[in-house]
This record gives sequence, C-alpha cells and structure tokens, in this order.
Amino acid sequence: MKNIDSKSHVRGESVYLDDIPVVHGTLFACVFDSPIAHGKLRSMDTSEAENSEGVFKVITAKDLIGENQIGGIVPDEPLLADGEVHFAGQPIAIAVAASEEFARKAAKKIKAEIEPLEVVTDPRVAAANGDLIVPPKKFVMGDTAAAFAGCKYVFEGRTEQNGQEHLYIETQGAYAVPTEQGGLKLYSSTQGPTAVQRAVCSVTSLAMHEVEVDVQRLGGGFGGKEDQANAWAAICAVASQLTKRPVKYALHRMEDMRMTGKRHPYSSDFKIGLDKNLKIVAYEASFYQNAGASCDLSPPVLERTLFHCTNSYFIPNVTATAYCCRTNLPPNTAFRGFGGPQGMFVIESAIAHAAEKLGVTAAEIQQKNLIDDGDEFPYGQLAESDAITSWSQADAKYDFAHLQKDADDFNAGSKYFKKGVAMMPVCFGISFTKTPMNQARSLVHVYTDGSVAVSTGAVEMGQGVNTKMAQVAAKVFGLGIGKVRVHTTNTLRIANTSPTAASAAADLNGKATQIACETIRDRLFEVALPLVEAETAEAVTLNDGFVYRNDEKTSLTWQNLVMEAHLQRVSLSEHSHYATPGIGFDWTTAKGHPFAYHVYGTAIVGVTVDCLRGRYEVDYVKCCHDFGSSMNTAVDNGQIEGGIVQGLGWVTMEEVVYDTAGKLRSNALSTYKVPDIYSIPKEIAILPLETARENLAIFNSKAVGEPPLMYGIGAYFAIRKAVRAFKDCSPEFDLPFTPEKVLMNLY
Ligand code: MTE
Ligand code: HPA
Ligand code: MOS
Repeated sequence: MKNIDSKSHVRGESVYLDDIPVVHGTLFACVFDSPIAHGKLRSMDTSEAENSEGVFKVITAKDLIGENQIGGIVPDEPLLADGEVHFAGQPIAIAVAASEEFARKAAKKIKAEIEPLEVVTDPRVAAANGDLIVPPKKFVMGDTAAAFAGCKYVFEGRTEQNGQEHLYIETQGAYAVPTEQGGLKLYSSTQGPTAVQRAVCSVTSLAMHEVEVDVQRLGGGFGGKEDQANAWAAICAVASQLTKRPVKYALHRMEDMRMTGKRHPYSSDFKIGLDKNLKIVAYEASFYQNAGASCDLSPPVLERTLFHCTNSYFIPNVTATAYCCRTNLPPNTAFRGFGGPQGMFVIESAIAHAAEKLGVTAAEIQQKNLIDDGDEFPYGQLAESDAITSWSQADAKYDFAHLQKDADDFNAGSKYFKKGVAMMPVCFGISFTKTPMNQARSLVHVYTDGSVAVSTGAVEMGQGVNTKMAQVAAKVFGLGIGKVRVHTTNTLRIANTSPTAASAAADLNGKATQIACETIRDRLFEVALPLVEAETAEAVTLNDGFVYRNDEKTSLTWQNLVMEAHLQRVSLSEHSHYATPGIGFDWTTAKGHPFAYHVYGTAIVGVTVDCLRGRYEVDYVKCCHDFGSSMNTAVDNGQIEGGIVQGLGWVTMEEVVYDTAGKLRSNALSTYKVPDIYSIPKEIAILPLETARENLAIFNSKAVGEPPLMYGIGAYFAIRKAVRAFKDCSPEFDLPFTPEKVLMNLY
C-alpha cells in the first residue's frame, strides 16, 4: 500500500510549517547570530535595528521572562548568547518585524563587539584540554589486555569520520500564536513536540499545560529535528510573549546550515587481535566525538556508538571507550543511525586493515566472526541473531564470489577503470537506549458515522508512520484505510511524548494504537453479540465493514454497530499506553538488555572508480534485509532506498567543511554536495530475510528507519578496494572518501 500522503505530496497540497495560513497581525523573527566561533561578548548595539523599518522589537538575553536555557540533557545551552559566544552561528539577538524582509534587514543591523578567544574544533584537542561534556563512557567484556597477548595477529590504526548535513527539504521553523490567559500555541517542524513544549516553557516561564504544540508533518527530519527544532520554537515563543502577537520564523537554507548542528564527526583509534583462524579475539577502540559547543543529544549518541562498536560480530574481549568532546562548533546532534554508523565504520576499518595486511578478503574475516544465537554483545544482551542467515541468504541470492570474480576479470582487462566489491553486514538495536523513553500513547475516536480518528505521539516526516498508524486501526476494525484519518501530533491530545526517533515510532505508537483499537473493538463485540446471535466474543470478527459470526458475514454493518453502541452509551473512544516490556540498562555496570530486538541485514556494494579522475559510481547495492514481516513493503522499501543513498552520501561526497576558525565553509548547496538522481546506485536490490522469529515489533514488522543507512558504509570499502586494484596503497580511513581524496591517494 502506498504512503497515504503520496497524492497530496505530488499535488503540492501537503501542509508544512510554511503553508500554515498566518493569522492577522503576525510578526516575523530573524536571528542575529555570532560571526565568530568563540569570544567574549563585550557590548551590543541594537539601536539601528530597532529604528529599522517595520521593526517591533529587538530581543536579547536580558529580555527573557523565563530562563535563558534550552539544554535538554545538560543545562549548558542558552537560547541567546549571554556573556560569551561558543560557536559561529550561535543566536545572539532576535529582530521581530512586520515582515520577513524587514526582520532580515534589521537583524543585519545588529552590532556586537566580540573579543575573540581561542577556538577548538578538534575533538582530540578538546579531550587533551579535559573539556569533556560528560565523563567518558566505557564498555568492557572479557579481558583485552590478556587476549591481545595470546593473539597471532594484532593491528592498530586510526579513523576519521566527518559530519553530515541533514538537508531535510523543509528547513527548521516555528510559528507561535498567543492563546487566552497568556498561553501559547506552537506550530513547529519538530520530531519532538514535547521537547519543544519543554524548551518553550523554560524560556517563557509558562507551565506545560499552557503551551500547546501541534505538528502536521515534516519535510524531513533525519534526527536534525529531534532536539534542534527547540530553539526556533523558543525564539518564536519569546518574541510572541514579549510582543503579544503571533510570531513566525522559517529559516533560510543558509541560516539553517550555519546555525544548526550535524552528524557528529569522530576521530577514533582501534586495535584488533586475531587468532590463526582469523577469529577476532580482542578489540579495543577509543572514540573522540566532536560534540560541538553544547551537550544537545551527544551523550546518547556516544552511547549508541558503543552499543554498535562491534556491529554484527561476536568478539569475546572488548574494551571501548568514548569521549564526548566540547568544541567551538554548532552542537552536533542526532542523525539517522544516532552514533551507530560511527561505531560500525571503525570496526569495519579494523577488519579491512587486518585483511589488507594479511592478504585475505575482508569478507573472509567478516563471515568468520558473525554473531550467532546466544552470543553476548559487549553490553550484556544475548543475541537472537540473524547475522549469519542474512549473510548466507544474500550470498545465495547474489553470489558474492561471482560478483567478486566479475570485478577481478573487469580489472584485469581495464587499465583506468577499476571495480571494487564489499560486504556490509549490519546489526542495529531497536529501542531508545534510555529505557524510560520507550513508551507511547494513542487516542482513538470512533465517530457515529463509523469513521475513525487516530492521534499518536508519532510525527510524520516522510517515513510513512501515519500510513502505518492508519493500517493498524484499519486492521483491528476490519475497515478500509479510507475510514481512518490520522491527525496532527498535538501535545493536548497526546502528552509527554518521546520524540519520533530511534526508528521506534511505528512500534511504540503502533502498539499503543493497537491496544486502543482493540479495547474499543472488544466493547463493540459485547454490543454485537445479541445482535448477531453469537454466544461469545471469540465467534465475532470484523471485516470489510461488516460483523462476521464464525467467519460468516452477517447483515450488521460496522456503522450500525457503532451507532448502536453509542445509543447504548458505550464509549467509542480510548486513550491507550504502551511501554516496551523486558528492556533495561544499568549504566553502573554498563550491562543490560537495552533493545527490544535487533534488525539484521547484509549488503553487497559494488563500485567502479575512474582512476584517472578519481570519480566513481556505485553500480549496485544488493541487500538481504530483516523486515521481520513487513506490514507495508512500499513504505519499507522506500526507507531502505533512502537510507542507503543517505549512507552513501555520508561516506562519499558529502563534505562538511569548517575552517580552523570554526566557520562553516560548506554553507550552501553550491558547496555541499548531496547525492542526486545521477549519483544513486544503478541498482538497489532488496531481498527480504526469510525468518520465522517472533519479535516485539508492531505486527512483527520490524523498525526500518535507520538500519539501512549503514549499508551505505560498504561503498567506502568497495571504493577502497577499487583504488587498491589500481595502485598498491593504503589510504587513511578517512570519511568521506570524496573523488578529490580518491585522486590524491591514486597520485
Ligand atoms: N525517512 C524520511 N523520509 N524522512 C526522515 O526524516 N528520518 C529517519 C527515518 N526515516 C526520516 C526517515 C530517522 S533518523 C528515524 S529515527 C526514523 O525515520 C524515525 O521514524 P520511525 O521511528 O517511524 O521509523
Ligand atoms: N535513538 C534516537 N534518539 C534517542 C535515543 C536513541 O537511542 N536515545 C535518546 N534519544
Ligand atoms: Mo533518528 S537519528 O533517531 O531521529
């Protein structure tokens, strides 16, 4: 079934933040942000801006009625710089004016005298200075020191990984409208309506019940709006509170690129030890995470790097240490994979490095070390593993040896074009690693005409979660999807939401919706029993808008049943709660069972490199993917294709460039290259893993949002192989492997 939004999307009728009709009297905000990355704010002059045409107010930190604080985990993030600036792009003041243009013009007239301080952009320098946002985090299993001593082969190395711009098509933005008695209604392009609500309450001193946040949909979030939508909503809220007018702010692309954080760059060290049979016996890694100037979501991102530091492999002795390093960059944040890709790239680099030194294929080492049922992850959870089955099903279908031989034959006959093939297994844990976040609620109303309205905490951002929510209700009620409408995500209908993140929105909100619908359905069955002359509810089912008795259609329609229930004063509404059972994690021991389940998969990635120019093309990504049992193959295959292309972009062409002064140089689409229609793989093949395993996913349909991104990592290793087929060299493990870097390695 197609995404229910697809028609309104292609007709341009879907409503995003900037499409919401503005009410009369609306003002527009624009931020004046720091031109330098670190400094003392000596003085400010806002007078010229205040006298600028159409300006209502210029707001600085001292004007806030509430606290100047929006940090969600650590209170280290002022809404507006006060005393010091910590990154180029940090908001300092807000111009509020009668039009967007007036606001922008006024913001340019704000002047700040900033005395420059030393700028740190390198996480290793920050760590050496002791500038960590939270204490280091560590996973230990077995005894690596002892294990290395007994290894036949030990290799060490270093990897660098750069950030990634989210480049959601819809930029960040918010719209605040005053409500009665000093309250506020916020429209926000956010993955976390409750996070926005909290930030707004912090800066306005309003209570949460005075602030309503409403989200229709996002033109993409990709993690960039899990936490970083908060500032813009808080800015609109403050401006609205101080002017008593509705205030809107939708960022321009360059403002968004300059002022918001990105995927975390990491610098990492690895040490890998193997026995004579190529079994990995010991692995050590140190991860230096470039967190940027404030905490944001960096600690949980760092934790997920540790959770995925051994990817799909079982390694009996592991020590992994991770440092959350404060630098003078915009606070880096969630991005599809949430630290997992960064952890996986390091172990894959270690394996590739060992393979190159030993003169074997990486695939041989990978395959020998895949995690099996009952093997323990470094964090204590035991695997219910499909790593081996996904590998063997991918191999059976696509024939890795054959693809490798094709590449070898091609390379033998081609001087300047070389092909490379790499295997990329993926194992990704599903659940927020912070256990309390794994809960959700759903509000379901059945109306007397038989139509159904569903509200959940899930935010639609293109991933199709609303389609899945509608499917859940339609399935439980035996209705066509057209009878169900999924409504905006709204903090008055659904309170205390977790953000739509961790790929868990469909599971958490879907299960809550299932419970709500089943509760209403069971009430309806009680009403139906005498009407269809059935003895027990077990004999009754709902299908195609009719009540069935012992699988036989009766004359009682859904609509009549609903009306009858209403006349009997039976409630047709339900608000239900779901919390993932059986999960937990103890950070004092760094052991537990954090994930409801894992998603497994194996991709084979093939590339061709033009060794004269350094350019390359991805020929194919062929994967065997663990859907469990997909409830919507159109949506899920779309997630896989999109995830793969986004992962490819990260490891190949997307290059975030900050200069040593901490200024973003790749600050527009002319200087930041993302995959386009010409750079996507010529072929993406998706083979559903055959498995009969039960899982905790909604209708057994496993989470799919993030895991496929990591298939894209295989492109790095495929390009590396092609480069090495041209020239015996050992490129640094340095992401992204841009055509420029490929060329520099070739010559
Ligand atoms: N797909 C689209 N089209 N747009 C997005 O912003 N975000 C990704 C993924 N797929 C995203 C997307 C991220 S980072 C996550 S965590 C999941 O969707 C969140 O949605 P889910 O929990 O419903 O899978
Ligand atoms: N994934 C995504 N977002 C999160 C997580 C996570 O594991 N934990 C907290 N926020
Ligand atoms: Mo996704 S990075 O968990 O929003």
